[in-house]
Amino acid sequence: MKDLETIIAHAGEKRNKMGVAPPICQSSLFTFDSYEEISKAFDDPYNTPIYSRGNNPTVRILEEKVAAAAGGEACKFFSSGMAAISSAILHYIKSGDHIIAIKNIYGPANNFLNKYLKEKFNVEITFISGNDIEEFKSEIKENTKLFYLESPSSAIFSIQNLKEVVKLAKSKNIKTILDNTWATFVYQRPMEIGIDLEVHSASKYISGHSDVVAGCVIGKEKDIKEMFYEEFSYLGGVLGPFDAWLILRGLRTLPLRLKQHSENALKIALFLEKHPKIKKVNYVGLESFPQHNIAKQTMTGFSGLMSFEINTNVKGIKNFINTLEIFSIGVSWGGYESLAYAPIISILKEMPEDQIKSMGVSPGVIRISVGLESSRELILDLERALNEV
Ligand SMILES: Cc1ncc(COP(=O)(O)O)c(C=O)c1O
Repeated sequence: MKDLETIIAHAGEKRNKMGVAPPICQSSLFTFDSYEEISKAFDDPYNTPIYSRGNNPTVRILEEKVAAAAGGEACKFFSSGMAAISSAILHYIKSGDHIIAIKNIYGPANNFLNKYLKEKFNVEITFISGNDIEEFKSEIKENTKLFYLESPSSAIFSIQNLKEVVKLAKSKNIKTILDNTWATFVYQRPMEIGIDLEVHSASKYISGHSDVVAGCVIGKEKDIKEMFYEEFSYLGGVLGPFDAWLILRGLRTLPLRLKQHSENALKIALFLEKHPKIKKVNYVGLESFPQHNIAKQTMTGFSGLMSFEINTNVKGIKNFINTLEIFSIGVSWGGYESLAYAPIISILKEMPEDQIKSMGVSPGVIRISVGLESSRELILDLERALNEV
């Protein structure tokens, strides 16, 4: 099996007389026929189902499939994207180390580095835009152990030149972790570029149906095996077998779904770009996106999450959100359904509108996750909502 579509359909699964769909092994533990048999299982707990906070056959099918699809040696699934991300970072870092991270990474990942690890564990963090390799070079110190990357990054979708970053990291013996949730291994192949660990929120495109919270880490078997015995076992962020089964079911259509997300997103971005009430569209797939050409060097396609800025105030944003009918109002992204969210809703919890204005923060930003509905009707929905601004 070489082509991604075939790998996603079949990897990790054996022909099975019990049925074409894999079994859900809904069991916390596995029993053995004899002293000798359980003793043998303990010779290799990484590969043997003994207890499900370790190995479970349904979860293992998913892990083998994702490792094969991403072109990694191994994969471990976790109970959320954040469980995967925090475990991956902890795997490479100890007290006194220095991390260089991208400024606009997913908020809780940023807080984990900047608040939790920095304040409680004396880890040094430097945030950079990541747009220029010279920025990485100039921030490297003796104790720099990790580059934490997210490309495109959350909110503003800035891109790192992954090939250059990996080359620099390897020359300085620095590890690299990339959050590849946005592009997925269908459109961006970090394992082939030489990234050490690829992390995902599988709650997004990988599962794709907004019915599971999960995460995964993909990498060399040595790293994943060490994580299995340490961060995975000690922190215990384990994925249940039924959730694994749901992800397997969703994963089978990942390439097809992404194609549709991508086509819909481009049509919508082009519509928004021309609309007189729109100031700016942040969609990596647009030729006018400032880093589009860099993105094209590592991505073969673009998924469906973008943001745009409406020339308006909080009242206008309220009208816009409340007029939407097909776009649901909610956080998260990557599911079959289209979603809209205005970051001003969270910002207003922390400071009043006057202060927001004086800081130059625009209230008019909207983030949309473009789903699988008809692009014609999604555009009509946005047009109607924009008329109410
Ligand atoms: C880019 C990115 N990474 C990681 C996460 C965290 O994933 P989870 O919500 O599955 O913990 C999210 C969640 O929104 C995300 O957007």
